[in-house]
Parts: sequence; structure tokens; C-alpha cells
Amino acid sequence: MSAPTSHRDNLGTNLLEVRDLTVNFETVDRIVEVLKDVSIRVGREEVVGVVGESGSGKSTLAQTVIGVLDTPPARITKGTVGFEGKEILQRSDKKINFRGKGINMIFQEPLTSLNPVYSVHDQMEEAVNIGEPKMEKKEKETVIRKSLREVMIRDVEGVLNVYPHQLSGGMRQRVSIAMVLVQKPKLLILDEPTTGLDLIVQRKIISLILNLKKEILSSILLITHDLEVAAYMCDRVYVMYAGRVVESGNMKEVLQRPLHPYTTMLKNSVPEGYAKEGSLKVSSGAPPDLRHLPSGCAFHPRCQSAKDECRSKIPELKAKKDGREVACWLYE
Ligand SMILES: Nc1ncnc2c1ncn2[C@@H]1O[C@H](COP(=O)(O)OP(=O)(O)OP(=O)(O)O)[C@@H](O)[C@H]1O
Ligand code: SF4
Ligand SMILES: [Mg+2]
Repeated sequence: MSAPTSHRDNLGTNLLEVRDLTVNFETVDRIVEVLKDVSIRVGREEVVGVVGESGSGKSTLAQTVIGVLDTPPARITKGTVGFEGKEILQRSDKKINFRGKGINMIFQEPLTSLNPVYSVHDQMEEAVNIGEPKMEKKEKETVIRKSLREVMIRDVEGVLNVYPHQLSGGMRQRVSIAMVLVQKPKLLILDEPTTGLDLIVQRKIISLILNLKKEILSSILLITHDLEVAAYMCDRVYVMYAGRVVESGNMKEVLQRPLHPYTTMLKNSVPEGYAKEGSLKVSSGAPPDLRHLPSGCAFHPRCQSAKDECRSKIPELKAKKDGREVACWLYE
């Protein structure tokens, strides 16, 4: 896939601003830090990617932003989450009803957001009620059908009458996208929205999301292990490794000239024009076990550029020119 449009800069005020977010998972015998000082921002109408291998903390970040992180076992020990300039992270770790905040999420597995005991129609109606509680019944029915047509569902009446388990994975994802879209979120979080779907359906869903984004003017935070999908969709990207942001910047520039050796490794693992299904395969070694992180830079056992100080000192994320950031001793 090649990037469809020119990348946008100077996007104005941030819609979402996460600062220094630190999250632990705490069990009886140990505390595991899964996010450490993570700071990200999403501008209005911007599409921002968070990319990293399995276990790097991407979903924990998304769940914290949207307020559905299970606390316990998770505990937010530090940081702020600002949405439209207001702090939305409750330090008591209480769950927040995210749907009223203008943030909504499409999960990797659509069954997470679809209720198995209600028909598609009833769930769509509930979604419309959240966005437009006072809408007349007749108008609601029109909105429901229009929304399903927008996600390219042809047999709208047939789909409305069935239950989620009666649909294919691709159709379920379309329904969950339609449900979110009728609520017109200002920020849409997509957590691996196409993983597990076959390649053709993946591409259709991605094109669909991009087209609908233009219509509802949402900002998007895309969580993915697939650098190619991120390259296709995103304006900017954050690369995560072992719970930390290790690189960020304009998507095109990061892809053309990665600074962090891990980003280079990710890039080299995705041959151009070749889209993979399933997990990201990285040639050199496996992601670290967060319970036993290597000393210093957590990437050092896999890094061909590692030097002595990499094994003892953790590099901080530092701003470079052109809005790029990198956490690596090579740039100190
Ligand atoms: N409920 C939990 N209890 C303990 N540890 C957890 C829990 N949920 C997640 N973790 C740990 O937190 C770390 C980050 O998990 P997370 O799901 O955020 O990663 P991810 O980047 O989304 O991975 P994937 O690409 O596999 O979805 C992992 O090491 C995981 O084992
Ligand atoms: S800090 Fe050292 S080990 Fe870590 S990515 Fe940079 S060069 Fe490699
Ligand atoms: Mg995940």
C-alpha cells in the first residue's frame, strides 16, 4: 500500500494529550510496569498511529485513555490524560463512561463491543440513543439504515434482524464501525481493527474508515502492530517498545528515515508492497518479558548498535529537530 494523501502539518490545538502516563499491573507477588512515562498527543482531524510488537502496552494505553482499564489489576501511578483541554483521568482509577466524552473505540474483536443477546437493530438503536437521545423513532430508523449503508452493507434489512454471532468477522467489524459512527465521536480509537480479517477485507475496512473519517471529521488514534497499515493511514506515529515511546514523528519521515534501531527493525520486517496477517514478525529476537526487563535500554539484547552505556543506562525520549523524538544513546 502507498500513502493515499499528503500528510498534514500544523494541526492546531491538541484534542487528546496524554502526559507521562505510567501504569502497573499488580499481582500478589509482583508489580509489572507496562507503561512508563508515555506522552502522546492527537490533534484535531489528525490520524496518529501507535505501533509496536505484542506486549508493548498499546492496548493498555488505549484502555486508559478511554477509561475501561481494569483497576485492579492495573494501577495508574502517574500521568494525565487531557481531552479538549480538560483532565479526564480520574486519579482514583475509577472507570469513566467514555461514550459521553466524545471518545469511542473500535476493538480488535468486534464481539467485544457487540452484545450477543441483542439483534443488530436493537444495538444500533441504542447507539443512536446515546448520540441523539431525543431523536424521533422514524428518524432513528433512517439514521440506522444510512449508517449501515455507509459501511458498505448491502443487505441492510437482513443484517438488522440478525445477532452478531450470525455475521462473518468482516461484517461484524462493519456493524461495530457503524455503531460507533452514529455517535459521531470526536476521537476514534482503533485497536488493531483489521487483525484476524483476511487481506481483502482488511483493505476494505481501512479504506472505509478513512472515507468515513472525512465525513465525520473525527481524529483517529490507530493502534497497530502493522507498520504498513500505520503508514497508509497515519499523519504521525509513536513507536512503542516495552511500555515506552522510543520514537515519534511525522509518519512519512519516520518511515523514510527511522532514527531508533527498533523502528529500523520494524521497517525492515515489512517488505514494501507486502501486507502480512497476524502478528508482526521481527527478524531479530522476541519482545522482552516485562517482568524481567533487560537493564539499561530494554532493546539492547536485540540491537546491533548497542554500546556499553546501553546496557546500564535507560535513554530518555529527547526532542530532535522537525518535531521528531527518539530515545537512544546513539543520538545523545
Ligand atoms: N490483566 C492483566 N494482568 C496482568 N498483566 C497484564 C494484563 N493485561 C495486560 N497485561 C500485560 O501488560 C503488557 C502490555 O499488554 P498490552 O495488551 O497493553 O500490549 P499490546 O501492545 O496491546 O499487545 P498486543 O499487540 O498483543 O495486543 C503485557 O505484558 C501484558 O502481559
Ligand atoms: S540505546 Fe543503545 S541499545 Fe538502545 S536502541 Fe539505542 S543503540 Fe540500541
Ligand atoms: Mg493489544
